Amino acid sequence: MKIEKGIDLSRFILEEERKYPKASGTLSRILISIENATKIISSHIRKAGLVDVLGKVGRINVQGEEVQKLDELANNWLVEHLASTGDFFAVVSEEMEKAFFPEGGKDGKYVICLDPLDGSSNVDVNISVGTIFSIYKRISDDDTSFLQEGRKQVAAGYVIYGSSTMLVYSTGNGVNGFTLDPGVGSFILSHPNIRIPEKGKIYAFNESNYKRWSDGIKKYVDIVKEKGYTLRYVASMIADVHRTLLKGGIFAYPADNVNKNGKIRLLYEANPLGFLVTQAGGIASNGNSNILDVKPESLHQRTPIFMGSKMDMEEFLSVTKES
Ligand code: AHG
Ligand code: MN
Ligand code: MN
Ligand code: MN
Repeated sequence: MKIEKGIDLSRFILEEERKYPKASGTLSRILISIENATKIISSHIRKAGLVDVLGKVGRINVQGEEVQKLDELANNWLVEHLASTGDFFAVVSEEMEKAFFPEGGKDGKYVICLDPLDGSSNVDVNISVGTIFSIYKRISDDDTSFLQEGRKQVAAGYVIYGSSTMLVYSTGNGVNGFTLDPGVGSFILSHPNIRIPEKGKIYAFNESNYKRWSDGIKKYVDIVKEKGYTLRYVASMIADVHRTLLKGGIFAYPADNVNKNGKIRLLYEANPLGFLVTQAGGIASNGNSNILDVKPESLHQRTPIFMGSKMDMEEFLSVTKES
């Protein structure tokens, strides 16, 4: 299919489906449900100061974080839209301790991992946030279907609620970006076949953690500062990774002596975004192995994560391996 700008997401999804004559259309329906739910999230974020969606709900989630109203609203809108399709077996979300098995999903062929609102500490101060999704084939009758390596993802993507609302996703044949036209209410193909630059000049590390890092990480950051790299760090992984995809460079959330396994969650942050960066020609690693080869052991497990341009990541891995 010639990928021409201007095609809308629903048509793009269906044309992609036609490439697989045996496709049942289930995956397409799941992607379209996610698309519809994220339009609702986007519309509420765009008027957040005017409708009652800001602030906290007064509950601590399984991550030990204070839940923002929009964390919970985004989670509920996504799960409700998905559950209505009857097309998936179970969903894991940052905001739900256990996997959720929808009523009509007993024969569902897929499982879905969600970060309903990434960067939610930023939403009250009008800084970009996002939604992340990751889809696998169901391989069991319980939540062990979620413990598959990231390489087995059938699809992964995100929506960034930034200066514009963009949906970026891949089903394993490259990465395409769609911009929401609020006037029409459709995501329109605006960034066909996204390729990450081989090398960038931007590093996205939370330098306030410098003292807590291993010597290898410190050495790498010292080297790139010497080389005149710019620091850009939004503290919404979605925004930092989206910028890295388009401009190149490296995003990192290392382990440190406080966060022994890092902060970023494997199933619904590191794996989907690592899949996209890899599909766009970059590299994603936990510092020792490719992140997409890591066998998950638990639903909310955390991991050190480094991802970005091929040459930047190769330099990072060789510097930190030597140290
Ligand atoms: P979430 O809002 O989904 O809990 O994720 C927040 C994550 C990620 O988006 C971001 O890169 C990281 O937290 C920022 O952590 P620090 O504020 O510790 O740098
Ligand atoms: Mn959170
Ligand atoms: Mn997140
Ligand atoms: Mn989140």
